[in-house]
Amino acid sequence: MEQSNGSTATQAIPTWSSPGGEGEGSYSSLSKLWSRVGSMLEPSLKHAILHRFSAPQSGTEPIHYADFGCAVGANTLGFAKFVVDTLKMRPDVIDRDIVCHFADLPSNDFNTLFKQLPPFTGQGDGSVEERTWFADGVPGTHYGRMFPRSSLHVAITTLTLHYLFELPKSILDKSSPAYNKGKVGCHGSSPATAEAYAKVSRQGLRKFFECRAEEIASGGVLGFYCLGRRDRAHPENQLFDEGSYYVLDIEKTWKELVNEGVLTDESLDDFNLPLCHPSIDELQEAIEHPPSAFRIEKLDFIEKRPLADKPMEFDDAEAYGKFMAVMFGNMRPMLASHGLSPELTDKFEERYRQNCEKSYAVKKAAGFPMNMSMCVAVLVRK
Ligand SMILES: C[S@@+](CC[C@H](N)C(=O)[O-])C[C@H]1O[C@@H](n2cnc3c(N)ncnc32)[C@H](O)[C@@H]1O
Repeated sequence: MEQSNGSTATQAIPTWSSPGGEGEGSYSSLSKLWSRVGSMLEPSLKHAILHRFSAPQSGTEPIHYADFGCAVGANTLGFAKFVVDTLKMRPDVIDRDIVCHFADLPSNDFNTLFKQLPPFTGQGDGSVEERTWFADGVPGTHYGRMFPRSSLHVAITTLTLHYLFELPKSILDKSSPAYNKGKVGCHGSSPATAEAYAKVSRQGLRKFFECRAEEIASGGVLGFYCLGRRDRAHPENQLFDEGSYYVLDIEKTWKELVNEGVLTDESLDDFNLPLCHPSIDELQEAIEHPPSAFRIEKLDFIEKRPLADKPMEFDDAEAYGKFMAVMFGNMRPMLASHGLSPELTDKFEERYRQNCEKSYAVKKAAGFPMNMSMCVAVLVRK
């Protein structure tokens, strides 16, 4: 089935891998940029932990916190510290052990995350240099069960719910109106394709909340934010600043290589990114799907918000192209599973870098990183 020019009959769900390590272009370095989005969730999460959370009756039972789709880096550790500090403000938690579970796909760079953990001291004044909480890594997909029943007390998931658990089958079926010809994703696709994406997204959301309902104990808190849409109409418009979406540069690169005969038309038609931003009403529907295990404390839509406190700075187009090429590392396993040889993937990466360089002026005008629309929520397990 595999061909060196990247044509495959079907595309299995790829292995995501956020660029590992801590160097330039790693997810770890990039995650500092998402500093601002955390502040959208923190006040309402803090309120729910302080005033809505019911700690287990036994005063010695540890408190378990989980971060689903944790990746690595400052966001992950910042949220763990935020949750621990908030929990410790409660008199019924202050003397208990707290365990932070970092959950992600097996392809996540857990080793880097473990190295980033501050040393465990068991006690202290809560400064970032020390860790008063226990930690572990949990590999698996959050579209299935990852923890024992009723074992979690606080959980978050940030910037993860737009990753689908699988690609819609119809977008790969040439006889289907949803066949995604000439596109690499949902954005800008035909209404039939976009709806096929949205349907899988809705199924995934249902699975996600069903599994978390099993795992989070009654009185527990689940907070999240994700890239999102205002409502379920027009999923082909994924709502971000037009022109600044990196996926469009991937599509452009692919088309150029097809026109040059390096890749086949079919390889482009069969390659699809498993990403779709859920809308706020789709999220609500999944959360409230019977038996409706969660009470919604907050569920907000925030339109086109800059992701970082200050714009990301690049010296010039070349620096931007280089940065994006490193970030492209994320895509390599997907291209490999699509049948592209390492040489072809290198060529793709180089052309992608050039295209990013060319689009530097547009991206700069839109502001780095791009403005994205978000859904933010805090739920309490009934
Ligand atoms: C954009 S990163 C967000 C990381 C981190 N939560 C943050 O806010 O910086 C998305 C993460 O979701 C993870 N992910 C995607 N699909 C997943 C799944 N089905 N189960 C668990 N993790 C998943 C990816 O591996 C990646 O680490």
